[in-house]
Order: sequence, then C-alpha cells, then structure tokens
Amino acid sequence: MKKYGFNLPTRIEFKTGLLKKSGEIAREITAGRKAFVVTDPGVKKAGIAEQVVSSLAEVNFECFIFEKVRPNPKDTDCEAGGAEARRFNADIIVAVGGGSVIDSAKAIALLQVYGGTLASYEGEGTVPGAVTPLVCVPTTAGTGSEVTRSAVITDTKRKFKMSVKDVMLAPRLALADPETTYSLPTGLTASTGMDALVHAIEAYTCREANPFSDALALAAIERIYPALPAVVRDGSNKQARDDMMIGSVMAGIAFSHSDVGAVHCLAEAIGSLYDTPHGTANSVFLPAVTAFNAEADPRRHARIAMACGLDTGQLKAEEASRLLVDKLAELSFGVGIPRFSNLEGVDPKDFEYLAEISKINGSTPSNCRSISKKDYYKILQDCYKS
Ligand SMILES: [Fe+2]
Repeated sequence: MKKYGFNLPTRIEFKTGLLKKSGEIAREITAGRKAFVVTDPGVKKAGIAEQVVSSLAEVNFECFIFEKVRPNPKDTDCEAGGAEARRFNADIIVAVGGGSVIDSAKAIALLQVYGGTLASYEGEGTVPGAVTPLVCVPTTAGTGSEVTRSAVITDTKRKFKMSVKDVMLAPRLALADPETTYSLPTGLTASTGMDALVHAIEAYTCREANPFSDALALAAIERIYPALPAVVRDGSNKQARDDMMIGSVMAGIAFSHSDVGAVHCLAEAIGSLYDTPHGTANSVFLPAVTAFNAEADPRRHARIAMACGLDTGQLKAEEASRLLVDKLAELSFGVGIPRFSNLEGVDPKDFEYLAEISKINGSTPSNCRSISKKDYYKILQDCYKS
C-alpha cells in the first residue's frame, strides 16, 4: 500500500463579491506595505486587477503592477518579474489572473528571494526555503493553481514546459470570487473549464490517486460536467459560475494530492511547441486518452460516468466507460473546442518529437495505464485524423 496524506497550506476563502475585500483579507497575512501585483493585459483591461489594487490601497498597501505575463508563461518574463519585485522590495505578491498569471507569480515569489534562472529550480523540492508570501485571485474557473504547489513555465531555450514543484510555492491565500469570471469570454470559459474537468478526471484515474484526492475529484466532476455547458451557453448563469469556480478549486486540490496523466503530458508538449492554450490542448486529447486508459481501469472510468450524471443504468463498467468517452468528445465539441488538426501550427512532422517530450514528462509514470512513446505517437495521429 502506498503512503498518502493531505496537507493544504493554502487558506481558501470563497464568496461572490469577495474581490472588494481582497485588501482587508490580504492584510491578515502581512503587516508589510508593498504589494507586487502580477496580472496580464486582458485581466487588467477587464478592470479586475484595478479592483484588487483599490482594495489593497484601502488598507495602505503600495502597489506595483506587473502585467508582462503571456499565455503559456515564459521563464524570461518570470525572471524579469523576479528582478522587478526585488527592486520594489515586495512584502507580498498578489496574483490576479488565470493559470499563467498564478504560475508566473509563484516563480516571481521564488526568484525575488533566491534569484538566478528559473531553470535552476526545475524539479521537485528544489526551493531553498520560504518565498515571498503569495495571495491568489483566480479569474478563470480552470487552473486550480491557486491551491497547488507547482508552477509550470515554458523554458524558452529548450522549448519545453518545465515544472517547479515545492510546498514552499503553495499560495498563502486563495480568494475565489466567482464574480471575476462573469465577464470571461466564451472561448476562455470553455477551454479553462475543460482544463478543470481534466484535472479532476486525471486526479481520479492516475496511479497517485488516494481516498482524499478521490473524494475531491468526484465532487469536482459532479459540479463541472453539468455546469460547463451551462456557463458556455449563458455566461451570466450565476449558479453555474459558482459551481465552476468551486469545482475548479476542488479539482486543483485533488490533483495536487494525486497527479495528472497522459492528457496533460500531451497538452504540455503541444503548448510549449505551438503555444496552444492549455485548456484547449487538454480538450483535444481527452477523449482519446480516456479511451486508451479506460481499457486498463474500466471500473474507475465507469465511476466518473456516474459522477457526470450519465445514465449508466445496468451498463457494465466497460460500456459505461465507452459512454463516458463519447460524452467527453461531445462536450468538448459542444463547448466549441477546435479539432486538433485545426489548431494553429500543428504539423504531423512534429509528432515524433511531441511523443518523445510527452513520454519524458514527469507525469507519464502516473498515468493509469503504462504509456510508451509509440502509444503517444498513435494518439497524436488518431486525434489528428479524427
Ligand atoms: Fe491543467
């Protein structure tokens, strides 16, 4: 029996309208005066970063806004942010944005204190000690990064997504306010929501799954599967927005206490090569990988079908998991995710390389079914043709 445990160093506060209180709550974790706010141009334009900055100013924080975060965040931007935070002498880092912003903020919190290149911290348990305290305000219901201890950042030299995973990177505070997602464009709502669903599915099926991660993963699937098409249909559906936000936080806790699997390995590979948005990259591989994995563990996949609320009635586990695969493909298509072959830059000539870097991803050994480079290559080809 494998050892497992549960440790959530992040305090979570969940409430609609919480954004307006973000300064007050952040004040509870530091007496310092200088807040380094990490965001991106889209979030800034939506006025969300500004609301956080005003709330911080109300309790006497001086803010520096760093908005140079790009999708599939780059190590060079994080290194520039770390140097800037050091010059500013930040007492806390406040991330306002989606996964790219939050992962960058973790890297900046690390680099502010310890300097150097981000690549020198690649791996697990590599952070020398405490980093600048981090407060996260997620603006998408997808990443879960506000409750995880890892940052996934593109190494621009090697064109590879590296992970820095350390309990020291866990945010001190996650302020989950579904209102931040009300104005999220439909495409982003869909792709980030699919990412959250994949977190929950992979946390539940992978080899690192345990009773704690199982409970949260299934609870997340129960919320996300019905809520996702509802928020894509109608972004103003507040109940569905709430379900998406709480579901994505739960999925984040689930996979940080378990792992992800082959869907993420493929998604990170194409994300680093083609800059494909992370959630979209996950979606295009989810049905094919689920079909591949379900053969190894039909019982767990049938349980996911039940959590989705599918009518599994008298179906055998194998049949229920096949139904799940069909429904996941329908969901991805239904919320408007493009086909793999239609994604920008995708070229079958790269599949050999993509299969190779998927194979060496740190989460490949966690996938519920052993998966070889040849299997990855076949999945890439099958997805391209479908
Ligand atoms: Fe993800």
